[in-house]
Amino acid sequence: MKVRLPDKQREELIRQAVAALGHAYAPYSEYPVGAALLCGSGRIHDGVNVENASYPAGICAERTAAFKAVSVSDREFVAIVVASRNAASPCGICRQVLAEFGPRMVVVLVDPQGTVRRETTLHELLPDVFSQLDLN
Ligand code: THU
Repeated sequence: MKVRLPDKQREELIRQAVAALGHAYAPYSEYPVGAALLCGSGRIHDGVNVENASYPAGICAERTAAFKAVSVSDREFVAIVVASRNAASPCGICRQVLAEFGPRMVVVLVDPQGTVRRETTLHELLPDVFSQLDLN
């Protein structure tokens, strides 16, 4: 079942994801990404990609937001809005991290103007997730 976000919440997430874009640290790729993650608590955690001169040390915007959320015990992910110049979809590693806390969460992809280019779910993006069930 696809959760339909209330319009106000959706607009606020889009606003925060686009605002976060301006804080991205992406001097190497010149590909800024901003994210805004809504949790079950009602709180929103934003995030940006943070690159590094040692390239693999960098991190994506989605994981920055996810780790900020979990760091304050927000472990129920409801929706994420990701902003980038071509409204790109989260990378595979980010999908796996998001699935840990929000296997059914809504994923909204927007451009820097905040125009929604795609609205989907994490389950659609990562149907065959490896989860804690596999470890039992
Ligand atoms: N990036 C993200 O922040 N999220 C994604 O899902 C894909 C890629 C970042 C990582 C790197 O800083 C830049 O975009 C180019 O790959």
